[in-house]
Amino acid sequence: MEFDELNQLREALKSSPDNLPLRKYLASLLLKKERWEEAELEYKEALKYSPDDLELQIGLANAFQAQEKTGLGLVLIEEIVQKSAPPPTAWLVYAKLLLQSGQARDARDAYENAIALDPKLKDAYLESDINLKASKNQEPEKIKMFSGAPEENDTGTSVDIERPNINFDDVGGMQDVKEEIRMKIIHPIQHPDLYKAYGKKIGGGILLYGPPGCGKTHLARATAGQVNANFIPVGISDILDMYIGQSERNLHAIFQKARSMKPCVLFFDEVDALGASRTDMRSSDGRRLINQFLDELDGVRYDNDGVLILAATNAPWHLDPAFRRPGRFDRIIFIPPPDESAREAILELKLKGKPVGQLKLDKIRKKTKDFSGADLEAIIDIAVEAKLEESIRKGGALPIETRDLEQALKKHRPTTKEWFNTAKNYALFANESGLYDDILAYLNIKK
Ligand SMILES: Nc1ncnc2c1ncn2[C@@H]1O[C@H](COP(=O)(O)OP(=O)(O)O)[C@@H](O)[C@H]1O
Ligand SMILES: [Mg+2]
Repeated sequence: MEFDELNQLREALKSSPDNLPLRKYLASLLLKKERWEEAELEYKEALKYSPDDLELQIGLANAFQAQEKTGLGLVLIEEIVQKSAPPPTAWLVYAKLLLQSGQARDARDAYENAIALDPKLKDAYLESDINLKASKNQEPEKIKMFSGAPEENDTGTSVDIERPNINFDDVGGMQDVKEEIRMKIIHPIQHPDLYKAYGKKIGGGILLYGPPGCGKTHLARATAGQVNANFIPVGISDILDMYIGQSERNLHAIFQKARSMKPCVLFFDEVDALGASRTDMRSSDGRRLINQFLDELDGVRYDNDGVLILAATNAPWHLDPAFRRPGRFDRIIFIPPPDESAREAILELKLKGKPVGQLKLDKIRKKTKDFSGADLEAIIDIAVEAKLEESIRKGGALPIETRDLEQALKKHRPTTKEWFNTAKNYALFANESGLYDDILAYLNIKK
């Protein structure tokens, strides 16, 4: 039924492609149906007809946000909120994007702007999320960065420096990946002379890719904890700045900070956004930023000893091929959804310290094919909530039982399949030098 409506709209647009209200309607419908990727495409298409349309720009930013294309979303929306009298929905999308990029306090400001202008935009979930994150007590050290017009440098945005208290034991499964990280970046840091003696070059980074929620960020953080190093997570959105040349300076400031804080793990999240030039970023700006990044990474001009460089992306196919050259991200590791035993390990990790009965996790692990680590976390969350409610009703802390988890399974679908739908195409049709063989192997597709 609803499918029909979309098809009809698309048909209608074929015969009158410049009917802007129709285009807007189709795009907003896709947004409402949470078909984010298609919504993104429609908004981009509509913007070709009317590039300055605020409603379209906000819609696109919304689609970016929902797909965690945070950097792209921020670049777009910040230009809007800097205008006079931006619409309240712009502030709302801005708040979500800021939250996603870890800037909870700024997110709160933006959110307050939104509901001040339009109280109907009140969103209890978002609000509690923002308040939770904005009030996290530990106040991490900040790296000052330049932002805004050059003459107002000191009102900088900033990046956090953490000392993670998790290590490889907190990451379920991934034995091979952990081993690879040990060989490639942990041992060189601990035994530099040995590596030199054998003439083994140190340097370069590891790129992690795979479906969202499967532990890329978690693993990067645990790597830092494993070697008691500082952890500097960088979202590309933290770097991007609308002023020409400023993004490159921000990037350089981050690398310099990392070099002064070694040992340290410098982690670039959604690193593909750096190269997402084409339509989204002005392409020459994108190019400059990529070159800056490669220059910092090559360590020819700078000494990167003691700085472990990890990066993650859900969309490796958008990454500029120059990143993959030797000495740069020359190890590209697929982080698949957890297999059965990893799922059990993750469930155990996440249930630690909670009141549980005689759980038959082997039953749950069998029923959670295609679940990401984040999905498993969600299952536990759902079970915990139900149990809390029951405990309050009946009095006393009731233990979580196998059937509670089974109930929860009915309420949460695995989220990794969608990623594989896209990934499969790249693995089949753009698999230069076997880059995505791991995806094909995972999907049991013979080359
Ligand atoms: N292998 C794993 N072991 C433990 N926790 C995991 C694992 N994979 C995912 N998680 C949990 O799922 C959540 C999302 O993982 P994250 O690292 O943010 O995924 P990604 O960066 O790949 O999108 C994290 O909070 C983490 O606790
Ligand atoms: Mg992540």
